[in-house]
Amino acid sequence: MSEQAPGVRIGGLTVVYKTPAGELPAVRDISLTLEPGSITGIVGESGSGKSTLALSLLNAVQPPGRIAAGSVEIDGLGDVAGLKGEELRKARGKHIGYVFQAAQNSLNPLKTVGKQLLDLGRSHGVEDLRGLVREAKELLGRMGLDGTRVLDSHQHELSGGMRQRVGIMLALVLNAHLVVLDEPTTALDMITQANILKIVREVHAERGLTTLVITHDIGVVAEVADRLAVMYGGRLVEQGPTREVLGSPRHPYTRGLIRAIPQLVGDIDEAQALPGRPPTLATVPKEGCVFRERCPLRMDVCDDVDPEAVSDGPRVVACHAVNVKEHA
Ligand SMILES: Nc1ncnc2c1ncn2[C@@H]1O[C@H](COP(=O)(O)OP(=O)(O)O)[C@@H](O)[C@H]1O
Ligand SMILES: [Mg+2]
Repeated sequence: MSEQAPGVRIGGLTVVYKTPAGELPAVRDISLTLEPGSITGIVGESGSGKSTLALSLLNAVQPPGRIAAGSVEIDGLGDVAGLKGEELRKARGKHIGYVFQAAQNSLNPLKTVGKQLLDLGRSHGVEDLRGLVREAKELLGRMGLDGTRVLDSHQHELSGGMRQRVGIMLALVLNAHLVVLDEPTTALDMITQANILKIVREVHAERGLTTLVITHDIGVVAEVADRLAVMYGGRLVEQGPTREVLGSPRHPYTRGLIRAIPQLVGDIDEAQALPGRPPTLATVPKEGCVFRERCPLRMDVCDDVDPEAVSDGPRVVACHAVNVKEHA
């Protein structure tokens, strides 16, 4: 892989999980491009398929799940959906830095953080292990932690928020140029979260990364992402430049998400929770629009026809009601 920020092209990606009711899609026919050097945010309620999509970027979806269709083309790596074994192991960590959701629980309880750092470096053929440790301390220091102390600690000696920052450090320390952060700040208080997001942005700019940030919290992506993609029921329902999507959301789901956030609405009394609940794999409609059960703009066609994603400049929206109005 080149030393520059890679572009990523996800095309027609469908990922299914085997369930008692057969194989059901958690990600359905998603196409999304991560521009080299950009920060893309993916937002959506719990269960919308965000983590499944993120895992697909490393070809790391585990059984009972599998990539059923589509491709994930990463510059310098090719289609990762076709990578296997050693090639795949090398790509992870060195080319793709990754923080798993619940990274605060993914450390090995029996080894110090420093020992795990060295294991990681060795398994990726890092020769300058001293340099790796220096780099780790510097990243931890930037995130407000005492690097030496953290490297000497076991997982149980660290708080959830500290572990989360260790996860971010491990994703960045091998100098991967594609970084995927899945719910990187959920265990952090608001102020620490804002600080960490600032550091993510700084490191992103300094190193020239391509970054994907996944979160259920639209406030998080509002702070870091250049481009925003909104997922619901395994579908990508809207995407576009973050400022435009937040400033003039088009899809009724995006509107609902934004209306529910007091900080974005600007008035706590104006904020309104989105009515209803997100679907599960078993309850996602197989035909028609996945959002219709909760949609204030529902029309007859929404029951039968899955709305196509229609582009309008940099904005993309998959909604019959919106697209009928805009293209009439
Ligand atoms: N291992 C699994 N087996 C069966 N269903 C799963 C599995 N992992 C996730 N799912 C289902 O896939 C859907 C998407 O999950 P996920 O990708 O974790 O969404 P998100 O990250 O947006 O919360 C959910 O309905 C979830 O219950
Ligand atoms: Mg998730």
